[in-house]
Amino acid sequence: MKESEKSRLQALLKKASGWVEPRLGELPESSGGLSRLPSLCRYSLTSGGKRVRPFLVRSSCEAVGGGPGRSIHAACAVEMVHTYSLIHDDLPQMDDDDLRRGLPTLHVKAGVPQAVLGGDLLMVEAFGELARTPLGAGRVSEMLGRLSAAAGPVFLVGGQYMDMNPPRDADRPWVERMILGKTAAMIRVSLELGALAGGAESDLVDGMQGVGDRLGYLFQLTDDILDRSGNTDEMGKRVGKDADHGKANTVSTIGLAEAKALALRLSDEISSELARFEGDWSAVALLARYLPHRRK
Ligand code: IPE
Ligand code: IPE
Ligand code: MG
Ligand code: MG
Ligand code: MG
Repeated sequence: MKESEKSRLQALLKKASGWVEPRLGELPESSGGLSRLPSLCRYSLTSGGKRVRPFLVRSSCEAVGGGPGRSIHAACAVEMVHTYSLIHDDLPQMDDDDLRRGLPTLHVKAGVPQAVLGGDLLMVEAFGELARTPLGAGRVSEMLGRLSAAAGPVFLVGGQYMDMNPPRDADRPWVERMILGKTAAMIRVSLELGALAGGAESDLVDGMQGVGDRLGYLFQLTDDILDRSGNTDEMGKRVGKDADHGKANTVSTIGLAEAKALALRLSDEISSELARFEGDWSAVALLARYLPHRRK
């Protein structure tokens, strides 16, 4: 990938984070003095993630011709579900991580019950935020249904369950299904919600699912590679944890060298596939091409 393309992608990612950051800072809503949970959630929500999912929502909306105002609520909603999933993923009873986005994880800062409830709050409010999308009721209802499916038992929650309950002989197909759930679905639904917000019809959105899932698989594949070969300073989270915990992932099933080769192959396939879709999907294709080279 050329340096000029990397700079263009960095500029687009920066634009997307600058766009969601102020709104994420206003969320979640006050609890009317009942608890300090909203401010704890804000700690996790505004601590500087890469905002890849909001970038995808915005880029997908623009690719089908929609202005960014139509997709801001979807972008924040997806980032809220993602952030809740990270808070719960880091809990001592799950991956037991003390560092996230370069800061102490929420349970380290505030306690386990507080982190569980903070995650609950973000997940629920994400749907409230998505429901504020200023588009027709039919379209908003379809967006809510798609986010709930992606976050639910067949995908995010189901994939996390698989991750925590691996069979002794976890093989490559098992790992692929686990990733489809825990990570790929939220990447895929970011593209779906962006396109719906931009005015696309359900058929086009359904046609994007395959490429969205593959992009999500590639994202987790590169996360697993970086867990093995990245560093904590750049990642803002501890590395080497998957091997320490004996986690089954793509690197543990096919090895680091093959995982890196697979990431390059997938990245090429995804960017070529995106070029065949109607509209300008070049921003998403840039991300796909960058992922095998990412350091954080
Ligand atoms: C981390 O996601 C969890 C995975 C799905 C691998 P990100 O790498 O997008 O984390 P942030 O949002 O930038 O912190
Ligand atoms: C997390 O996968 C996927 C989620 C749904 C949160 P990981 O457990 O590999 O994510 P990190 O490495 O902790 O960010
Ligand atoms: Mg995990
Ligand atoms: Mg984890
Ligand atoms: Mg990981």
